[in-house]
Amino acid sequence: MNVFIIGGTGFISGRLTQILLDEGHHVTIFTRGRQSASFEDADRLGHVHGDRTSLASLRSALDGRVFDAAYDMIAYDGDDSRVAVEALQGHVGRFIHCSTISVYMISDEVRCPITEDQHNLPAMGHWPRNPFGMDYGINKRACENVLWEAHGVDFPVTVLRPTFVSGPEDPTARDYFWIERILDGRPLLVPGSGDHAFQQIYIDDAARAFADVLKFEATRGEAYNVVGDDIYSLNEYLQRLAAVLACSIEVVNVPQYLFDRLPISTNPAGDVFPFNTRRTTVFSLEKIKRDIAYRSTPFEDWMRKTVEWYRDEYEGGSFGYGRRTEELDVIQKLRTKPG
Ligand SMILES: NC(=O)c1ccc[n+]([C@@H]2O[C@H](COP(=O)([O-])OP(=O)(O)OC[C@H]3O[C@@H](n4cnc5c(N)ncnc54)[C@H](OP(=O)(O)O)[C@@H]3O)[C@@H](O)[C@H]2O)c1
Repeated sequence: MNVFIIGGTGFISGRLTQILLDEGHHVTIFTRGRQSASFEDADRLGHVHGDRTSLASLRSALDGRVFDAAYDMIAYDGDDSRVAVEALQGHVGRFIHCSTISVYMISDEVRCPITEDQHNLPAMGHWPRNPFGMDYGINKRACENVLWEAHGVDFPVTVLRPTFVSGPEDPTARDYFWIERILDGRPLLVPGSGDHAFQQIYIDDAARAFADVLKFEATRGEAYNVVGDDIYSLNEYLQRLAAVLACSIEVVNVPQYLFDRLPISTNPAGDVFPFNTRRTTVFSLEKIKRDIAYRSTPFEDWMRKTVEWYRDEYEGGSFGYGRRTEELDVIQKLRTKPG
């Protein structure tokens, strides 16, 4: 197939590009050219430069060509998706959009396991500390709404909604937040009970799901949760991560209401501590398993590779680690508190 990707060199889209090349497709990626990436089998790769926020730029990249499929990996608001529809409608056999589970998590009416039909439940009042991103979820919903309106036989849309994507080269380094703290051997400050269940997805599983959609006609006009099978609470995550690191850990849970008052708990973007889901979020995988025979990699397998990458190649730090002593001070105060 001839495939066009808006994006194509980043964390998720870069893996997708490589998988599609591995499968023998001809792939044209569209990026600004800021992020470099190297690919195997690059003789079947075209790279056009431009900015996806500009309709003229996207149109000129397409140059009147027709593709069997297009992926939009980086639409973040309704305008992004409108530009994609205007540029691509009539030029692609099908259109696959990268959404997020945050479209569910801006509502407090979702019921677990969260099925794909719960994407438009009434949004909660604005909650800046929503760990899934409040504005992010609202804007990603807007993308989907634009696309479902454009969806039709001449422009069949498929929407994929990944959860937290993890693995080597993760630009958010969410897992490293906990890895760095476990490796320093000091106690871990955990917000709330740490008992709420959540799910991650390994980057290779996520990218594979995006690629596999092309193989199954039943995916046209459908949306899918893209989530790992493993379900665990933050406390369980930390135990399993510590086992991979061959470390022992001491977890100190701080009541959520106290945690929320700590200056170290927040920044302008919301919660600092990753995977602090504050409520249980379990997603249904029934549909994706039925329609694309999806299977995920077990936590310990992908986490081992991820830890190896952080140990051997990652040069950054973890979020908020510069204030680690303040976390330890809180733990000390909790311990010395009478009663
Ligand atoms: N990471 C997660 O945990 C997670 C979870 C759920 C959903 N998602 C979704 O995943 C998608 C993002 O994945 P990612 O962060 O891994 O990004 P990505 O798609 O893998 O990487 C960003 C790519 O887009 C290009 N790009 C960025 N801005 C551009 C622009 N204005 N015009 C053209 N190209 C542009 C970048 O290259 P240049 O910089 O060179 O242009 C790069 O190739 C989003 O749709 C997000 O909502 C992510």
